[in-house]
Amino acid sequence: MRLNLLFSIIVGLVFSFESAWGSRLSVSGNKLIFNGVNFAWKFYGYDFGNGQYAANSKTTFEQWLKEVATYGGNSVRVWLHVEGDNTPSYDAYGYIIAPDRTGTLIPDMKLFLDTAKANNILVIFVLWNGALLRNQNSVNLFWDNSKLQSYIDKALTPMVKALAGHPALGAWEIINEPEGLVYNNKPDANSCFNTVPIANSGAGWDGKWIPMKQIQAFINWQAAAIKVADPGALVTVGTWSQYSQTDAFSDTRNYYSDACLFAAGGKSLGKLDFYQIHTYATFSASAPFKILASNYGLNKPLVIGEFSSSCSGGMTIQQMYNYAYSNRYQGAWGWQYAGGYCSDSRATQDLGMQQLKGKNTTSGLVNFPII
Ligand SMILES: *[C@@H]1O[C@H](CO)[C@@H](O)[C@H](O)[C@H]1NC(C)=O
Repeated sequence: MRLNLLFSIIVGLVFSFESAWGSRLSVSGNKLIFNGVNFAWKFYGYDFGNGQYAANSKTTFEQWLKEVATYGGNSVRVWLHVEGDNTPSYDAYGYIIAPDRTGTLIPDMKLFLDTAKANNILVIFVLWNGALLRNQNSVNLFWDNSKLQSYIDKALTPMVKALAGHPALGAWEIINEPEGLVYNNKPDANSCFNTVPIANSGAGWDGKWIPMKQIQAFINWQAAAIKVADPGALVTVGTWSQYSQTDAFSDTRNYYSDACLFAAGGKSLGKLDFYQIHTYATFSASAPFKILASNYGLNKPLVIGEFSSSCSGGMTIQQMYNYAYSNRYQGAWGWQYAGGYCSDSRATQDLGMQQLKGKNTTSGLVNFPII
């Protein structure tokens, strides 16, 4: 969502983001609570671009958006380039030359947004997947600034400009779980780049050994480019756990603070608007379903971006959505409509969203028209 003056004049509702401490996403002064699911894909990496949307995903995604709306959902998190096998379009040297080869990527995204709008659903587009990144061209974007800049110039900026102001565009997520890529337990004199505090967290499971500073710069540059192309856009990152998203505990660190992203990439616009934590399995004492969002001591809203009752250590899906709503989180996106490891069934996720359908209390507003 974004500041939309026309919207505000006509219907008196306005999405806004207030950047002060205790900031919140809001709709006409009411805190907006994301109630939704991850799709996250229909055909992993091949949902958008090069004609894939029409061929693979459109019919299914349109049905799923209707289903989300039926059960009171207001948002979906969907993955775009994923590992980089289908989009963006790389040349033989690993530079990006276009969003995709055949020119359907942006129109595909717009079609998806149009259907989302018709169902009063906000879309969070996730650009990259750090949990698994096997395409060497995509890995190289963390190591070569000129390649990263080619992505920004030839794919990201055109995409963001073309979709700027679409009422169903909820946010851009730079990368899912970048901690898979990180060089863990690497000392650094600058606390922003030092991964020793999270040495025992499990981060670095991809075995790519990318220093945290390069991951932060990757995020900082793309976030800044999005803000330049569309100053009203919201930007986030999907961290795999609380370990990399808060300074509140001895074995955690907030690597995505404004100061750390700037220290790594040098772009003052390259900040996140809201934070996002994923959580699975046996929850440790500092995990999202164990404590209030405010216990993380963050100066930005916090969404629980992935979770499931099947990997929750015993909570029901109803308990999970209710917990997020009642404990100061900015919302919850269950994992995931396409199914698979640690996923709940669509029917289970629907029961979760249904818990929050129509809610409008001091905890926040869930359903509202997107115009
Ligand atoms: C939500 O509740 C507030 C406060 O009671 C009210 O002013 C507002 O109109 C409600 N919004 C919707 C969309 O129902």
